[in-house]
Amino acid sequence: MSDAGDVTTPQVALLSDGVIALRRPEPVDGPSYLQMRNNLALVSAVMGFRLGVNAQTVDAWIASGGGVEGDDLMLTAVLAKDAQRPVGYIKAYRVDRVSRHAWVGLSLFDERDAGRGYGRRMLTQVCDYLRDFVAVRKVSLEVLAGNARALALYASLGFAEEGRLKAQYFTHGRFEDVVILSKFLAAS
Ligand SMILES: CC(C)(COP(=O)(O)OP(=O)(O)OC[C@H]1O[C@@H](n2cnc3c(N)ncnc32)[C@H](O)[C@@H]1OP(=O)(O)O)[C@@H](O)C(=O)NCCC(=O)NCCS
Repeated sequence: MSDAGDVTTPQVALLSDGVIALRRPEPVDGPSYLQMRNNLALVSAVMGFRLGVNAQTVDAWIASGGGVEGDDLMLTAVLAKDAQRPVGYIKAYRVDRVSRHAWVGLSLFDERDAGRGYGRRMLTQVCDYLRDFVAVRKVSLEVLAGNARALALYASLGFAEEGRLKAQYFTHGRFEDVVILSKFLAAS
């Protein structure tokens, strides 16, 4: 029998700071991804696929390892000390070993977990990993201009605006700017 419903079985973490652990998506995460991807307000905040998905699509995506190739990462963030409760995801994509650049995207699964420092922990760990193990020197991300909490977090971590795609994304009945932020990762 599959142990997909057993949230007490610790999964192997790639990274952990003792509060947030990051590991590959596991079948046990399915309900969290399903809920997030059908929360259309949240999907809009992350500029994701807008039409929702079904459980089979999510399960197949997890079975594929989160659809990543090469040096890209797709990681589920779980609470290290709370029965591995999934709280969000973070991905590094278009990881370019020659330019030593990567794009990053992240979200919590549920807005009720916002403001507890989880996003900061997720992003810090992945930037450190990309710098130390993949030799990435610059990380970029895209964020809606109206996403005040995300912008505050990224600015406090040293991300600076590099560009702005004007009236790029249709949300809440209007076209909103998308801001491109980057951070140069200092050698440790
Ligand atoms: C954006 C997101 C990833 C941030 O993660 P988080 O765990 O909530 O963020 P943290 O608690 O680590 O930090 C939030 C920071 O913003 C600040 N903040 C919170 N609400 C804020 C608001 N409404 N306006 C401005 N700043 C705000 C907090 O004070 C904190 O800053 P500090 O650490 O310097 O005190 C998360 O809230 C989220 O996933 N939201 C929904 C989807 C989304 O917007 N994803 C990002 C798409 S780019």
